[in-house]
Amino acid sequence: MDNGEWTMDNGEWTMNLEDYILAHIDPEPDYLHRLWRATNLHLNYPRMASGHLQGRVLAMLVHMIRPKTVLEIGTFTGYSALCMASALNPDAVLHTIEINDEQEEFTRPWLENSPWADRIRLHIGDALEILADSPPALPIREGAVCSEQASAFTESSVIAPSQKFPSPTGEGLGVRLGGESPFDLVFIDADKRQYVDYYRAVLPLVRPGGFIIADNTLWDGQVVTVPEGSSSMKRHSVPSAPEGSSPHNGKEAQLQGILAFNDLIAADPAVERVILPLRDGLTLIRKLP
Ligand SMILES: C[S@@+](CC[C@H](N)C(=O)[O-])C[C@H]1O[C@@H](n2cnc3c(N)ncnc32)[C@H](O)[C@@H]1O
Repeated sequence: MDNGEWTMDNGEWTMNLEDYILAHIDPEPDYLHRLWRATNLHLNYPRMASGHLQGRVLAMLVHMIRPKTVLEIGTFTGYSALCMASALNPDAVLHTIEINDEQEEFTRPWLENSPWADRIRLHIGDALEILADSPPALPIREGAVCSEQASAFTESSVIAPSQKFPSPTGEGLGVRLGGESPFDLVFIDADKRQYVDYYRAVLPLVRPGGFIIADNTLWDGQVVTVPEGSSSMKRHSVPSAPEGSSPHNGKEAQLQGILAFNDLIAADPAVERVILPLRDGLTLIRKLP
């Protein structure tokens, strides 16, 4: 066990709390540790990946929920997808959607070469378009989509079932995922400005009693900061902009997205919810039966 780094502070030996936690939870599996290092070495914004602590939390939640079908919005290098897949039963499946087709060259081999490749389906495209186009028939193919040639996934930003993935039998590969509400668990971890839209798109696809987990919902604590010069002491989400205009850019737009999402979830009678102050904030949502 790595016991973390002790430092002297005001005459007392102390240790960073996260180091202490990491020293007392399950170690990061070797494959994920290698992915973490490669992510930090080769990718911009490596901090977007879930990392050791959140990865173990996601794996534990999957063990507890025991989902048969999982949807992730926002793959990046596949760290969280692999953590969740590692905790799935072998007959369960995790669909993960990544909008950035340039990410695929890095990510697909990490998914394909993992011990959990047979449980993971990577889709390249805009989650909102894919979900609008094909619910609940996301394109999956028999066996591991992970072993599909990368080129087959980069032709279009939107995957059209049965067009992009002709099966060996010539039949379409849009496989129904089991009725109208196929997902037992959805993990939302993509563009913060679109969290409300992701939520609205996935809620009907979650089975009653199923779960949605949303990452970064405390946005580095900024949900409780008040901008300089503000007359109000409370952080409010502002009404969304009229179509075609973009009054909020960058960080502020992402914060506004998170604030709007948190307000929406807090008021939605269709769900139960709790926010864990883990890392950047993790909201656990349960769709009421
Ligand atoms: C924070 S990273 C995901 C990290 C990953 N879930 C993990 O924990 O290791 C967010 C990812 O979402 C992707 N993304 C942004 N908007 C998206 C969309 N509309 N559909 C699918 N992916 C999207 C980004 O390209 C980026 O790779």
